[in-house]
Amino acid sequence: MTKVTVLGAAGGIGQPLSLMLKLNPFIDDLALFDVVNVPGVATDLSHIDTNCKITHHLKSDNDGTGLATALKGSDFVIIPAGVPRKPGMTRDDLFKINAGICTDLAVGIAENCPNAFTLVISNPVNSTVPIFAEVYKKYGVFNARKLFGVTTLDCVRANTFMAEAAIGEAEPMDKLATSYNVRVVGGHSGETILPLYSVCAPHVYQLLPSEAVDALVHRVQYGGDEVVEAKNGAGSATLSMAYAGYKFLHAVLDAQDKTGIESTYIYLDESIPGAKETRQNLKNSCGADLDYFAMPVVLDKDGVKEIKHDILNRINDKERELLAICCKTLKGNIEKGVNFGK
Ligand code: NAD
Ligand code: LMR
Repeated sequence: MTKVTVLGAAGGIGQPLSLMLKLNPFIDDLALFDVVNVPGVATDLSHIDTNCKITHHLKSDNDGTGLATALKGSDFVIIPAGVPRKPGMTRDDLFKINAGICTDLAVGIAENCPNAFTLVISNPVNSTVPIFAEVYKKYGVFNARKLFGVTTLDCVRANTFMAEAAIGEAEPMDKLATSYNVRVVGGHSGETILPLYSVCAPHVYQLLPSEAVDALVHRVQYGGDEVVEAKNGAGSATLSMAYAGYKFLHAVLDAQDKTGIESTYIYLDESIPGAKETRQNLKNSCGADLDYFAMPVVLDKDGVKEIKHDILNRINDKERELLAICCKTLKGNIEKGVNFGK
């Protein structure tokens, strides 16, 4: 039996994400939690003729025990709860509201399903993930191998934009987004997002003019703003995020049987092979001692098995410059989350 809980299931990301999860044959029990509207979403989805059972839970259910019921027995918890950006806002502007929401949800998870995998979508991811970690530490249930900031949308964008850039270029560049698997490291906002095109296979970096690569990197870093501007006050990425969230959860589920590699934002716990090397490499590159960083990791049934630290040895000079900028901003974002969580 595999139980997945979605926290924030009635929202712009939560609804399409829950739809995709309802279609997954490996999920038996899907618990949808929100503070509003979730009975309607769950009832609608429950008419779909797949085997996955759906339950709905409002925070106010049964004297406020809705969250606990949604989480009891859960194996995987995915969290798109919280407010999204409007034009002119940074992700950090969401901290004030979303930090409190994340704290409450983290307490719920620590009390009701402390061994579950936690997948955090709520922004600002650079700071919300440390909040979860601090709450889990307080409860004595922190396991760095099972706590993830979902940064898959950055990878999805990096692949798509690469393929778009390839259109119009001479062969042998591949023009299909599915041909690319760009590793994106760092964090999830602006200059903390660092797509590593120089080590991307197929090796296209050398085939594009350097200004085109710079433009690509910038577009990935600010891809979220593109959607926020286009939605013009009606929120941020929801459908592409639901896809990315599903893609990442699917990889974590798949890793219950066979290992896979995904980029994700994690705590660099030195008990994880590759963490020490990653920390050292970041220190050498930018002098910063960072506790959290998005890296490609090997996943297995217990979560993060290994960090693919070697990728940082293979980046080019330009990326190393960007890495230094990334680390500086990220350090402040992490401290903000840690201090709040404490
Ligand atoms: P939304 O407003 O459409 O939905 C958020 C949902 O969270 C709502 O249904 C709301 O009722 C619910 N919610 C609020 N407080 C809650 C609580 N205490 N417990 C449970 N649910 C609660 O927003 P959205 O567009 O779905 O975005 C959600 C979050 O995801 C935002 O913070 C956004 O910035 C973030 N996001 C992250 C990424 C990423 O790449 N990690 C991408 C896109 C959006
Ligand atoms: C994104 O990258 O699309 C999300 O983080 C939402 C946002 O605020 O841009």
